[in-house]
Amino acid sequence: MTRGCEKEYEGRPLLATMGLDGDAATASAPAKCILFGEHAVVYGEPAVAVALEQRLQVRITPAKSWSIDGSSLIAKRHPHIHHLVHALWTNTSEPKPLSVHVTGDIPRASGLGSSAALSVALCAALDASRMNSENCLDSDEMSHLAHLAEATAQSGRASPMDTSTSTLGGIVVLSDKKEDGCQWVFTRQLDTPEGRRTWEIHTLTPPQDDVYLVLGNTGVHAPTSHQVALVAAALEANPERINEIRAIGSISRRGLKALQDGNYDAVGHAMSENHLILRNLGVSSEELETLISAALPTALGAKLTGSGGGGCMVALTRQPKETSEAIELAGGRTLISRLGNPGATLIAGPKETFWSD
Ligand code: PMV
Repeated sequence: MTRGCEKEYEGRPLLATMGLDGDAATASAPAKCILFGEHAVVYGEPAVAVALEQRLQVRITPAKSWSIDGSSLIAKRHPHIHHLVHALWTNTSEPKPLSVHVTGDIPRASGLGSSAALSVALCAALDASRMNSENCLDSDEMSHLAHLAEATAQSGRASPMDTSTSTLGGIVVLSDKKEDGCQWVFTRQLDTPEGRRTWEIHTLTPPQDDVYLVLGNTGVHAPTSHQVALVAAALEANPERINEIRAIGSISRRGLKALQDGNYDAVGHAMSENHLILRNLGVSSEELETLISAALPTALGAKLTGSGGGGCMVALTRQPKETSEAIELAGGRTLISRLGNPGATLIAGPKETFWSD
């Protein structure tokens, strides 16, 4: 027997059907990597992100007290979870306690969107455990809730890139305006400490080809907030450097067009060009440069992905094994993924809902 959410968004059944699993709800969501436009997206330029094969699963069951993987759940340490639970619990009483179990193969704190995947998958699992035909969330609502959870955890500053990509899957384009040649999906707004910001979210389905992404993890942790501040300081010291930000925007649009045309040689070229500007802006690192140089001889293009300073680089390649080996030899830990993978998926729901009034 299966129970399914009938609600669709733009023709995408978010939670088409699911199996039953006793008194548990399980959902999964993918990691993401940014192909074009990180940092420039903060200044309104377009950015393109891809859902990766690497995923995170969240399984929830009713419990006597709140726990995550056997440890007590502490609001300060798990702000995403705390926010989502309270956002989805409609009763005035305290939310019923749950045991939360997280598994998967997304490395944490490496720019691949592990916290967004956690928020999205948890949101889907919580919704399934309280599901009825009236309150079932669609992908717009789910990515909105997950985005607010990210914003709460990041002092009110978070772009919806990670949560939108993790929810929708495939390839996602973010811009401050509706972009031609993509399917517009929804608008996202957030009141940040610097004022209200608006993003238009689109999806893109490029022609298939035998190309892969190889992610190389430096193992160095550089907080996004620090990297974003570096760029802000560079612009403040020399306002003309906004031209570099605009140049990233033009490359993103060129890369987008190349993706739409299925011209992966041009996609790779645009990625490498995008990297040169990011390096010039000061957000690369010695470790990232080493891994990128190692990847380039067997790749169509390579760049840092995410906020830089550490974290991951990404190479687009037709020879994933060779590119991966070269990156590993240079000291990186690699992951291989095809471009564009499914978004949030409900794997199993409980026989009886357990998370309602
Ligand atoms: O490192 P990540 O995956 O958190 O990516 C950050 C992307 C930035 O453009 C640098 C910041 C942002 O909010 O978009």
